[in-house]
Amino acid sequence: MSSLNNKQILLGVTGGIAAYKSAELIRRLQDFGASVRVVMTPAAQEFITPLTLQALSGNPVHTQMLDPEAEAAMGHIELARWADLVLIAPATADFIARLVQGQGNDLLTTLCLASDAPMAIAPAMNQAMWRTESTQSNISTLTQRKVAIFGPASGSQACGDVGPGRMLEASDIALAAEKLFTPGTLAGKKLVITAGPTREAIDPVRYISNHSSGKMGYAIAQAAIEAGASCTLISGPTNIEPPRGAKVINVTSALDMHTASLSEAEQSDIFIASAAVADYRPLAIAEQKIKKANSDTMTIELTKNPDIVADVAAMKNKPFTVGFAAETQDLESYAKDKLKRKNLDLIVANDVSRTDIGFNSDNNAVSVFGPASTDIFSECSKHQLARLLIDLIAQKMPGH
Ligand code: PMT
Repeated sequence: MSSLNNKQILLGVTGGIAAYKSAELIRRLQDFGASVRVVMTPAAQEFITPLTLQALSGNPVHTQMLDPEAEAAMGHIELARWADLVLIAPATADFIARLVQGQGNDLLTTLCLASDAPMAIAPAMNQAMWRTESTQSNISTLTQRKVAIFGPASGSQACGDVGPGRMLEASDIALAAEKLFTPGTLAGKKLVITAGPTREAIDPVRYISNHSSGKMGYAIAQAAIEAGASCTLISGPTNIEPPRGAKVINVTSALDMHTASLSEAEQSDIFIASAAVADYRPLAIAEQKIKKANSDTMTIELTKNPDIVADVAAMKNKPFTVGFAAETQDLESYAKDKLKRKNLDLIVANDVSRTDIGFNSDNNAVSVFGPASTDIFSECSKHQLARLLIDLIAQKMPGH
């Protein structure tokens, strides 16, 4: 049974294009057994009608503070007390700023002031508005006040920009809300994860690397934080935002990642190696840019990089160690071989011959092998998969 079963959720809808997703969010919350009452700001009503949300929620939609009829049915203080969770989705930059200032100039901000219930917001705005210092500082303030921040996601926006600021999908918001009522499966645990590619320098301007975007590792880091773990993310070069709350160590080469990993893994409970680490690096890095020679071919001598995850698994106080296997053929046999050879507790095998999953895609599908177990996760978003992997790791850890 979902932890949202019988929970009473006050859904605040503010004025952004993502307000249309609030209709689906009501449904997803109801699927988990929650009752939903909706409060809309005047701007929200420009994007979606109260009638739509009333029909979906099965309850009258509250829009005004000074409405004798609405107050007679359920006064605003009563409404604030009714809520087990106040969830604002979408939350615009303007609403977030008013929330931070403690304003009470409309029904929704007044309810936020009057309610003792836990609060969560799903920000939705243009990427530049999201990145701006004032919004980021408002988000930090809300985080300090223990307001849960769901998202935002990154991608193309209604205005044509690309970047962070899109509201999370309704199903992801409902899952995040569910997690708020579930004691974290990794509460009190320290988790270290490697993510992204490494770059192995050839000369000052060239390097050897691969197509890893970091999406898989960053999603796992976020899921681990949601599950209550403290998380250190050791990341190769990526273009994505790290999850809020992670300690981020940026590295470039496999040697840098090796040093950071061994040091951070020392005191950790769990180590996950999702990075696509270069197996080899140039034996020597040219000091100056290598000039084109007369010959049509060129040879670069490579030397083996240390195996980071194997070295962590060989530590005296070995954390629960999870590796990944990126294979283009014989997935199961190669993955099981790595599990054994690298002394891992689990290995997550993905088929990287497919372009729609694995490297640099938003989705993945994996098989997870342990010394005596197989768990198969069919294709889903990397964020959904990350939560499933974290649940599996929590179950498999000793002492569970
Ligand atoms: O970043 P994304 O675009 O989201 O893509 C995700 C991913 C495909 C990169 C990820 O899901 C994945 O498969 N990561 C592991 C990639 C890889 O390097 O696999 P491998 O089979 O070559 O290595 C096996 C394991 O050893 C991995 O856990 C790897 O991190 C680790 N390793 C490898 C070499 C090395 N020198 N040190 C290591 O720790």
